Amino acid sequence: MQQERSNFTNKLGFVLAAAGSAVGLGNIWRFPYLAAKYGGGTFLLIYLILAVTFGFSLMIAEISIGRKTGLSAIGAFKSLDKRFGFLGILASAVPIIIFPYYSVIGGWVLKYFAVFISGGVSSAAGDDYFTTFISGTFEPLVWFFLFLGATAVIVLLGVEKGIEKVSKVLMPLLVILTLFVAIYGLTVDGAMDGLAYYLMPHMSDVSAKTILAAMGQLFYSMSLAMGIMITYGSYMKKENNLESSVRQIEIFDTGVAFLAGLMIIPAVFAFSGGDPDTLSAGPGLMFMTLPKVFNSMRFGSVIGTLFFILVFFAALTSAISLMETIVSIIMDKLNWTRRKSCIFVFILALIMGIPSSLGFGPLGFISWMGMSVLDIMDFISNSVLMPIVAFFTCIFVGFIIKPKSIVEEVQEGNVTFKSEKMFTVIIKWIAPIFLVLILASSVASALGIFTI
Ligand code: PHE
Repeated sequence: MQQERSNFTNKLGFVLAAAGSAVGLGNIWRFPYLAAKYGGGTFLLIYLILAVTFGFSLMIAEISIGRKTGLSAIGAFKSLDKRFGFLGILASAVPIIIFPYYSVIGGWVLKYFAVFISGGVSSAAGDDYFTTFISGTFEPLVWFFLFLGATAVIVLLGVEKGIEKVSKVLMPLLVILTLFVAIYGLTVDGAMDGLAYYLMPHMSDVSAKTILAAMGQLFYSMSLAMGIMITYGSYMKKENNLESSVRQIEIFDTGVAFLAGLMIIPAVFAFSGGDPDTLSAGPGLMFMTLPKVFNSMRFGSVIGTLFFILVFFAALTSAISLMETIVSIIMDKLNWTRRKSCIFVFILALIMGIPSSLGFGPLGFISWMGMSVLDIMDFISNSVLMPIVAFFTCIFVGFIIKPKSIVEEVQEGNVTFKSEKMFTVIIKWIAPIFLVLILASSVASALGIFTI
């Protein structure tokens, strides 16, 4: 018997859950460091333009496909056109690859929260603290396990009682905390120069690379091209306005990314005296530089604790969407109960995540083109599979089921689709071209031909 499909209770529930998926580690550490690296205000502007055009169109397409079919990715593409079953499988592979390693990083965040709340700010600011921690064997595994467990419990509770409830509490809390930490950070001596650095456009930095970097970030940040929005769309009610929901999710996602930049860049700038290398440190920025910044601040222990709990919330709601997407595929395909699917996915993710966790310590000898296990997973999913999935999704919508069928879904309940023309042109022509470029450039940069 088919399990009955759950639903989000209302539009707010849907928007907050989808925003919960979109707002994650990508917003909080990746966006600020990319913005710092690619010309501050210029990057912001380019990102914004891309978000309201490309991001918007792809998200509209994915949510519509989900709501139209009432199925998760594998079933959805196949039911619309038999030949595109492969696309559903490809899209579903992305969360299966991402979820385990995302939870490993989620575990690190949880660990930092625990250290900060127990007053360990000065030890966390030590030079080797982070490397010593991640190269350990048991400790990172334990935190990974805890993070995964928390995610699994919420997904087990289901769409309404688990995901929606948690998102409705955590997402507003996240915004308040982010605002608070950002405002506090701006009061630190020297932060104003950092603010200028973040917001002022540096036109000399505009290049094709900046645009490609912004595009790549956009897809990741909006949780596109991995079946997540298809799954969440399948839980959306027909009477909720799809276009305005997408606008709201976008504002949420971009708003938090912007605030994260405000929270991090001026403070790090002040701390490092404006050293560009410190600002573009990538993953290390959050776990290595920020603890030092907090350690040098007044009330740094409290601010640091708030910071890591907000990052934890962001990571948790994203992990929930990853797990839910996998669980819903299993429920659709195998007709298993939610409980059985959750237990299965939990165990699978645990097994798959172990190599990523140990890849910085006991399994450190495994490397490919200088990347650790975790980086390899990240590269395959984000830089290779996602652009491919997004590309085929555009082709699928543009030429197989035709933009008209998406337009009709958006117009459900007699609402007008305000950006219909823009949507059609982008999904059919502009997005596919850009996606091929993104794929080519990320593969080229991994192979060392040039770096982005
Ligand atoms: N969108 C999330 C972020 O910005 C990342 C994410 C990727 C979440 C994949 C879920 C799935 O961090």
